[in-house]
Amino acid sequence: MILESENGASTPTPAGLLTIDRSSREEISALLDQASDLQRSQRPLFPRPLEGKIVGLFFFQTSTRTRVGFHAAAARLGATAIEVGTGRYEAGMLAPETAADTFRSIASYCDLAVIRHRDEEQFHQMVRSAEIPVINGGCGTSSHPTQTLIDLFAIRTHHERLDHLRVGIAGDLAGSRSARSLIRGLFQFSPAEIRLMAPADRQWQGSRDRSRDISIRRLDSWDSSGLDVLYLAGFPVGENPDPTILASQERFRLTHDRAQRLDRNCIVLCPLPRIDEIEQQVDALPQAMYFEQSRLGLFVRMAILLECFAHPSEST
Ligand code: CP
Repeated sequence: MILESENGASTPTPAGLLTIDRSSREEISALLDQASDLQRSQRPLFPRPLEGKIVGLFFFQTSTRTRVGFHAAAARLGATAIEVGTGRYEAGMLAPETAADTFRSIASYCDLAVIRHRDEEQFHQMVRSAEIPVINGGCGTSSHPTQTLIDLFAIRTHHERLDHLRVGIAGDLAGSRSARSLIRGLFQFSPAEIRLMAPADRQWQGSRDRSRDISIRRLDSWDSSGLDVLYLAGFPVGENPDPTILASQERFRLTHDRAQRLDRNCIVLCPLPRIDEIEQQVDALPQAMYFEQSRLGLFVRMAILLECFAHPSEST
């Protein structure tokens, strides 16, 4: 199962999905099979499998796709979603209550929680206090397991496999939780190559599992030749961007010209939102799959919810 508890078997914390790291390829594949089944059926499920359940969406950092995507997935399965938004916690607002306290109060009304928080320690504090399963909807700069499952589903949908692919990932690989989660998720599928393209100071600093023989190339330049998948992770938007940083970002941008030189069967993915890492004209090219990737996310999120409710007290 992809389910896990926060502190191992000794904790009473119910299972959820906190990280991609401890999911095996079989567990990931089974979940993606479930997403495929849901995609194929395309019909409302009757009886609604999650009728009467309440899914709490605790987003202490902005989100569109993950928050609305889980809301829609819950609705498709017959559950009711309730949302705690960011407004109360944005900079400059008077916040008379901590996020952790809000979580502890509102989580008691719910059967499952999806949490996003920019601070890993605060995220884990909430998970430790939870008496319901928790899904990580994006945590700090390192972890975004539901996005990784969506990315893997998009890759498998197009290439009909996940093994032995050449995957290029470009952008802020030190700070993009989507990219960092995806790199670790790919380890399960023996990629032929993971090519990491980023400015030297924004490069991924992780290390591969020593038990696996995976070719990881770190580049300080653009090279999309021979790729099966090109993933644009983008760069965070600063209020007063340094011109040297902007110039550096330009080197890792998918322009229409670059996209036209991709292999015919290479797909372009992006977790979105797009800032400016992909030129708008790329959207019309057959390799552009990022909006399809976003569409597929609904079925993956439905599969994750079904899995978490199917095994509410399992722990690893
Ligand atoms: N990809 C992703 O996490 O998008 P949101 O920030 O809109 O949820």
